Order: sequence, then structure tokens, then C-alpha cells
Amino acid sequence: MTIKPQHGYHLRVSRPEDATQLSVLALQVWLHTYAWNGISGIIADYVLAELTPAKFATILEDPRQHVFVAQRDENLLGFAVINSAAPCPYGDTKAIELATLYVQEHFIGTGLGTALIQAAQHWAYDQHQCPLWLKVNAQNHRAIGFYESHSYSKTGSIDFVLGGQRHENYVMLGSPILVVDAQRK
Ligand SMILES: CC(C)(COP(=O)(O)OP(=O)(O)OC[C@H]1O[C@@H](n2cnc3c(N)ncnc32)[C@H](O)[C@@H]1OP(=O)(O)O)[C@@H](O)C(=O)NCCC(=O)NCCS
Repeated sequence: MTIKPQHGYHLRVSRPEDATQLSVLALQVWLHTYAWNGISGIIADYVLAELTPAKFATILEDPRQHVFVAQRDENLLGFAVINSAAPCPYGDTKAIELATLYVQEHFIGTGLGTALIQAAQHWAYDQHQCPLWLKVNAQNHRAIGFYESHSYSKTGSIDFVLGGQRHENYVMLGSPILVVDAQRK
């Protein structure tokens, strides 16, 4: 597929050398989104263990995972990770996971999230002829609203456990109608 430049940024497929920037961007977005009550020891340990350049390097090397980045000048503004090895736990088991969709706070509401999710959807339709599924924190109303506006609907719940605490995540599934539409084009 062709990815067109828009609003001064362009989307492209990730490269191995993106790992460090993706790690720092993920840290910033994760903390802004979830650490709304200060930085606990559990949060500090989690992000420093999980959102590392080494973990992103592993994702970028994994042929089952596909990453789109949004770039302006030399800077990364957002990214999407698709994991084709993760079947949907509820609903369409052939759907593949949109494992991460992060836009830097300064660019939220500019259409970047839409551009990234559409690129991910097209890739899933082209490569696997299936919709995407995802997990989203049940308190993350902005993201839930965003996904609903893109025809995703809740099919179940799953817990994310951090430091012994359970955080409810909704499982949301993209519309199979979008797959049919994409196949007609
Ligand atoms: C979710 C996220 C990727 C959306 O990216 P974005 O760049 O802000 O999205 P866009 O600008 O393309 O689209 C925003 C659209 O979302 C919808 N939307 C956003 N918040 C909404 C809300 N609270 N209720 C309903 N719809 C909402 C609107 O339809 C809006 O469309 P509009 O252009 O007609 O106003 C972004 O907010 C983000 O990265 N958040 C932090 C990380 C995160 O929560 N990621 C998802 C984890 S599962």
C-alpha cells in the first residue's frame, strides 16, 4: 500500500534503528496515559523493564509483528504495532492484534491515530484478510471513544495485572465489513 504524507508527517514501516526512539516515545505516552496519580515503584519498575530499546528491537526483528511509525522531520510522533501471532480471545479468533497504538500527547486529535489505525487495518486486510482486535483499559475513555468511532465494538474483558492489582481491559474487535470493503477496492 502507498502511505501518503499528511499534515507534515508521513507514515512508514519501522526500521531496526527506530528501537530507541520507540522506547522513549512509548515511555512518554504510557506514563501520560496511565500514571495519572504519580509514579509508584511498581510503575517505575514496569516501564523500565518493559518499554526498553531491547524489547522494541525484539519486536522489530519479529516477522510476526509489523510496526508503522509516524514521522515528521527526524522525529517519531506515534506508532502502531500489529501482532499477527495473537489470536482474539473473544469473537473472531482469526482477527490479529493491534498490540499498541500510541500518539504523542502534543499530536492527539490531529488525525494521526486515524492514519495509523487505517494503515494497520489495510495491512491486516492485505496480508491476512481479517480485522484487528485490541485490548484497551476500561478507564481509557478517550481511546475507547476513538475505537468506537472506527467501528470497533466490545466483545469481552480481560485483566491486566500490575503489581498484584487487576486492571480491567476491554477486548474490542474491528468490523468485518471493513474487510469486505477493502477487498472490493
Ligand atoms: C487513542 C489515540 C491513538 C487516538 O489518536 P488521535 O491522534 O488522537 O486520533 P485522531 O485525531 O485520529 O481521532 C480522534 C477521533 O477520536 C474520536 N474520539 C476521541 N476521543 C473521543 C471520545 N472521548 N469519545 C468519542 N470519540 C472520541 C473522535 O471521533 C475523533 O474524531 P474527530 O476527528 O471527528 O474529532 C490517542 O489518543 C493516544 O495515543 N492516546 C494515548 C495512548 C492510548 O490510550 N492508546 C490506546 C491504548 S489501547
